[in-house]
Amino acid sequence: MKREIETLKNYISEEKDRKIFAQVFDANAVMAIHVLATRGLFDLLEFVVSTGKEAHVFRATDVSGNYRAVKLYKIETSDFRNMQKYIVGDRRFKSIGSDKRSIVYAWVRKEYKNLVLASEAKARVPLPLGFKDNALVMEFIGSNGKAAPRLKDFKVESIEQLEGFYLQTIEFMARMFYGAGIVHADLSEYNALVNDNELVFIDLGQAVLRTHPSAREFFERDVKNVADFYSKKGLRKSFEEVYGAVKAKGKETKKKK
Ligand SMILES: Nc1ncnc2c1ncn2[C@@H]1O[C@H](COP(=O)(O)OP(=O)(O)OP(=O)(O)O)[C@@H](O)[C@H]1O
Ligand SMILES: [Mg+2]
Repeated sequence: MKREIETLKNYISEEKDRKIFAQVFDANAVMAIHVLATRGLFDLLEFVVSTGKEAHVFRATDVSGNYRAVKLYKIETSDFRNMQKYIVGDRRFKSIGSDKRSIVYAWVRKEYKNLVLASEAKARVPLPLGFKDNALVMEFIGSNGKAAPRLKDFKVESIEQLEGFYLQTIEFMARMFYGAGIVHADLSEYNALVNDNELVFIDLGQAVLRTHPSAREFFERDVKNVADFYSKKGLRKSFEEVYGAVKAKGKETKKKK
C-alpha cells in the first residue's frame, strides 16, 4: 500500500496539492482513485478546484488531454446524519449500513445515479463517467481548462441574460421532476455553474426520487431558493410564480412526448 501511495503521488503535479493529498487520501481513497485511473477515466489528478466541508473537487486529465472533474468525499467530516435524511426513504437505497463509510459510499452512488437520470432527461448537469467508493468522476464544466463560475459569483451582464438563466432554471427543474422523476433538494445559486451563457446544475448527491416522503418539502425549498435569488437580482419572482412555471413547463414536456 505504501508503494501504491507513493506511485499515486506522481499523479499530482503541484507541491501544494500534494499537501492536500496527504490530508485527504487515506488508503481507501487512494485505492478508489487508482481503480478509476486504471479504468481509463483519467490519467492525472492535476489540482484542487474546490475544497469544501464535504468534498474536494479536482481537475484531472485523461490520456488524450480531456479534462475531468473528480469529486472525492471526506469520510470523517461528512455530516452523515444529515445525509441519512436524503437516503432513508429513497427506494433505490434500502439496505445500506449505518456507519459513516457506508453512508458516504451510498451517497456517491446516489449522486452518480441522479446525474445519469438528470442527463437522460436533458437537464444540463455534468455527464457522469464513473465512481468507486467515495470518488466520483464526471465531465469538467469550464472553458479552456478553467472551472466555470457559480451562478452566485457570476457577474450578470444584462436583464435579458438573467431572464435567460431563469428560463433555463425552470426548464431544468421541470425536466428533472417530470422527466427524470427527481428533486434536486439543494438547488440554489451555489449549485449552478455558468458555462458559456448556459446553466449547469451540479451537486446532485442529495437529490431524491419524487416519491420520497420529503420530496415535496425539498421541492418547495428549491422553488423558494430560486424565487429568492432571481428576485434579489431584480426579476421579482414569487414562490407561486416559480412553482407554477415549473408545473406548466412539465405539462408542456409531457404533451410533446
Ligand atoms: N463537474 C465540475 N466541473 C467543474 N467544477 C466543478 C464540477 N463539480 C464541482 N465543481 C466545483 O466544485 C465546487 C464544489 O462542488 P459541489 O457543489 O458538487 O460540492 P459540495 O458537495 O457542495 O462540496 P462542499 O459543500 O463540501 O464544498 C463547485 O462549486 C464548483 O466550483
Ligand atoms: Mg455544492
